[in-house]
Amino acid sequence: MESRNAILHGDCITLMQRLQSGSVDFILTDPPYLVRYRDRHGRTVANDDNATWLKPAFVEMYRLLRPGGLAVSFYGWNHVDTFVDAWRTAGFRIVGHLVFAKPYASSRRYLHHTHEQAYLLAKGQAPSPARHLDDVLPWDYTGNRLHPTQKPLRPLSALIRTFTRPGELVLDPFCGSGSSLVAAKATGRDFLGIELDRRHHMTASLRIYS
Ligand SMILES: C[S@@+](CC[C@H](N)C(=O)[O-])C[C@H]1O[C@@H](n2cnc3c(N)ncnc32)[C@H](O)[C@@H]1O
Repeated sequence: MESRNAILHGDCITLMQRLQSGSVDFILTDPPYLVRYRDRHGRTVANDDNATWLKPAFVEMYRLLRPGGLAVSFYGWNHVDTFVDAWRTAGFRIVGHLVFAKPYASSRRYLHHTHEQAYLLAKGQAPSPARHLDDVLPWDYTGNRLHPTQKPLRPLSALIRTFTRPGELVLDPFCGSGSSLVAAKATGRDFLGIELDRRHHMTASLRIYS
């Protein structure tokens, strides 16, 4: 199975189980937020309605990450306890928290929701990066044209530049339309994406290879 500069189609738990331990330098991932997301066009996200995949997926990510490696995982704030439990169960240490400031509100209820969020996770004692990154980063509106929860390239590129060197391997096992892979490729890093949904896998492949 191709494991470098490839986008695999299928369930990431099954596919990650076939990959070599310690073979990944950095993980940048945006898993389902467990919120039964549905946008105004009726688009949904696979596995956003259950958490059965969460612990096994992070167990595999931890195994694949090299010792001393770092991972950034976006998460749904309303289920922070479930995500933190999965990360700690897998073995990750929580070493930082990122807030991405949106120039717009993505939804409104008790508050206007104007940020995304992610945790920085370490496998063992990860060395500090040569240049430090602020933990509040700007966000851009993508219009979600390619995916119902499409992430912008600018903050993803900043994370990859900070936590990897050129030629290192970035894994995103929930890659959707491939935003993290596009950012990795554009910054001269190798990438490995996995996506369950056939249409999103096709979108990611078109973005990367055409
Ligand atoms: C929040 S979205 C990622 C969006 C992506 N960051 C982008 O910019 O397009 C999460 C993705 O994980 C995929 N997914 C859900 N369960 C999966 C699984 N078990 N294996 C692989 N992909 C999965 C969904 O189909 C969805 O595209």
